[in-house]
Amino acid sequence: MPGKSKFVQSLVDAHPEPFALIDRDYTIVACNQRYAEAYTRLAPAEIIGMKCHEVSHKSPTPCEINGEECPLERTFRSSEAVQVIHRHLDRDHKPEYVAIHGSPVFDDQGRVLYMGEGMRSITHEQELAFDDEKMVGCCPSFMRVIDNICLVAESDSPALIHGETGTGKEMAAQLLHRKSPRASGPFVTIDSTSFTEELLVNELFGHEPGAFTGCVGAKKGLVELADGGTLFMDEIGEIPLSLQAKLLRVLETGTFRRLGGTEERRVNFRFICATHRDLKAMVDRGDFRADLYYRINVMQIELPPLRHRQDDIPHLVAHFLSRKMPGKLTTPISDDAMALLRRYPFPGNMRELKNIVERAALLARGGAILPQHLPEEIRRAKALEQRMRDADQVALGHQCHRDDDISLATIQATLARFDGNRRKTAAFLNMSERTLYRRLKLLADPVPRF
Ligand SMILES: Nc1ncnc2c1ncn2[C@@H]1O[C@H](COP(=O)(O)OP(=O)(O)OP(=O)(O)O)[C@@H](O)[C@H]1O
Ligand SMILES: [Mg+2]
Repeated sequence: MPGKSKFVQSLVDAHPEPFALIDRDYTIVACNQRYAEAYTRLAPAEIIGMKCHEVSHKSPTPCEINGEECPLERTFRSSEAVQVIHRHLDRDHKPEYVAIHGSPVFDDQGRVLYMGEGMRSITHEQELAFDDEKMVGCCPSFMRVIDNICLVAESDSPALIHGETGTGKEMAAQLLHRKSPRASGPFVTIDSTSFTEELLVNELFGHEPGAFTGCVGAKKGLVELADGGTLFMDEIGEIPLSLQAKLLRVLETGTFRRLGGTEERRVNFRFICATHRDLKAMVDRGDFRADLYYRINVMQIELPPLRHRQDDIPHLVAHFLSRKMPGKLTTPISDDAMALLRRYPFPGNMRELKNIVERAALLARGGAILPQHLPEEIRRAKALEQRMRDADQVALGHQCHRDDDISLATIQATLARFDGNRRKTAAFLNMSERTLYRRLKLLADPVPRF
């Protein structure tokens, strides 16, 4: 861009966040100081001419080859702005999750000349580690959740985390606390399923001496212990209606009384709760108070089930194996065993995968994890997989057939194989998405034939 370099440099410098202009060949043509500092120890002028993936991914190949969606490719293709989340390596080569905003920069003829790439750091990967646990993942749905958690952490409103059992709700709550302004305060957890109603009230609000038979000393409740920090209530859908009223009161007024006490005490905590239930349906059925529901449902976080994060399974397996034997050589896992794990739907989600991997490592006695080290129900999935593969072969072998010749069973099996993704299913079966839609409609609502 001869003669315009000052003009362009001042434009990129105007961005408060790391920002670069990148051409169609992934070459950086301009960047601001923040961009240079975020990823290198070089000056902006020294980065010009380098490839964007060399700088932010420390990789000689573009990110789509490494399995991430490339904003550059999409921006040039669609001429529209795109937003994606990537895992970058910072100037110290530490992994970091970053939200990228790619926008097209046009020439005078309206053709896309460059992509303007703006970055917002979401979190460093090391912040996802808690004691000996760590939130692992790099598939888009997981990264979107991390972004959402970090966004919700900025507010002080109650947050409701929803997800199937074992999807990592408690870890999400911990991260939310850690990223919030209350991070230096306590993080107090209560699992509503672990106590009877009386004990739960006692745990939450504490008691004064003599509050009940045999009670001598006073006890602080968890709401007091959480003062200045965060109170995380797991399985809020399980608490009885009477306790829901007491909880609503402390959330609305910030005050409560210990059991057997008359003194009104003031507390200040952020409330986070989690459930695997459909609370709205519980409200409709009268099992959950509507006023409490609206009070706690200000910010929402939805955790995806593991079956929607299949690409993360190899990373999770490696993580669970290295965690089990820190410092030692990680147990290898055979391709067959990994293929079985990738196909299993994991109703118990992350917890189930973790237990299966740890048990398999034990059974493998230091050797590679093979299919026989996996539980029966996962191995049975292999038979299903074989049937699906056969069905796929049939479908592939009949590509020249009319679409209607592909059996509904094949369509169902292929859909299952691609996790319900219609675009991939249609492409695999060599039919249009419209035709697939028509065939699926037939499945749901079969028309009688005469
Ligand atoms: N993203 C993740 N990466 C690695 N391990 C994870 C991840 N998410 C969850 N886990 C592991 O899975 C197990 C279950 O996580 P957690 O207790 O947070 O789930 P939960 O949704 O609260 O479960 P429940 O519904 O039973 O209360 C934990 O051992 C945790 O370490
Ligand atoms: Mg939990």
